[in-house]
Amino acid sequence: MNFKEEYLKRQNIINSKIEKYLNIDNFDHLNYSRKIIDAMRYSMFAGGKRLRPILLISFHSMVEGDIEESLALACAIEMIHTYSLIHDDLPSMDDDDYRRGKLTNHMVFGEGMAILAGDALLNMAYEIMIDNARKYPNNICNHLRSMYIISSSSGVNGMISGQVADISYQDEYIELDALEFIHGYKTAALIKASVLAGIMLEDVDRELISCARKYGENIGLAFQITDDILDITGSFEDLGKKVGSDQKNKKNTYPLLYGIDKSKKIVNDLITEAVEALRPFGEKADFLERLAINIINRQN
Ligand code: IPE
Ligand code: IPE
Ligand code: MG
Ligand code: MG
Ligand code: MG
Repeated sequence: MNFKEEYLKRQNIINSKIEKYLNIDNFDHLNYSRKIIDAMRYSMFAGGKRLRPILLISFHSMVEGDIEESLALACAIEMIHTYSLIHDDLPSMDDDDYRRGKLTNHMVFGEGMAILAGDALLNMAYEIMIDNARKYPNNICNHLRSMYIISSSSGVNGMISGQVADISYQDEYIELDALEFIHGYKTAALIKASVLAGIMLEDVDRELISCARKYGENIGLAFQITDDILDITGSFEDLGKKVGSDQKNKKNTYPLLYGIDKSKKIVNDLITEAVEALRPFGEKADFLERLAINIINRQN
């Protein structure tokens, strides 16, 4: 398997489905809502690795699911992720000017429109998932399970609580347990949800679900620690966002608590464990193994 080619293939599948969902012809009363649709499309098509939707369809297909059935959930999770980025960049949060290589949503459309574009993407995610679930009456319980995971992991018991802690502890020194909470919730929660929503669409053993959960948790935390590291060692060209944002905002990060070398070591250990967790899936997990390993040395 050529990992890069396979990743691109999956990314293209996701992108064309998102394009269908956000096609301008799908929307009503365009003379009033054109601006917000432009704002939604702007951030959704600004680039983005599509990590979360790729995880979702990859876990689903690894357990013999037909990705036609999971694609809607995958696009929905990317909409939720993109909404979280639009809001994360607002002046009242991280106050960042660039995202995905382009000016942030509020810099182009204004703050009010950026808040609404985020809200609209979040709501659209649910419309899409519910509409999709209706097409699979024989598998409705699993669809409900997956949708429940996505909604609870992105809400106040998930991603949002991480964002709350992230901005609440700015300027304040915190210990590891609080930092683990922030990273585990603001970022790992949605990554883990992508993994679980994919695998739980099919009827698989509990033990396999636990392995998938472990994989999701570990790569999620490793992903945010590398995000912290790249905010120091990365470049605008690679990342598409300005470096130094964490220092500017006096954020709590792994490099601040442990230094860069120890943070890298923690990432390595987390990824080693994530790869271990894939063992019961055998060769079918090759792609997901490579995806995890790539997090260690990612540049963007
Ligand atoms: C950025 O996520 C925010 C974090 C949780 C670190 P990504 O690095 O996945 O951003 P895109 O989707 O590729 O732009
Ligand atoms: C973002 O964390 C997490 C969410 C958007 C939920 P960061 O604030 O570190 O992400 P970047 O660095 O702006 O992408
Ligand atoms: Mg932030
Ligand atoms: Mg930020
Ligand atoms: Mg960051």
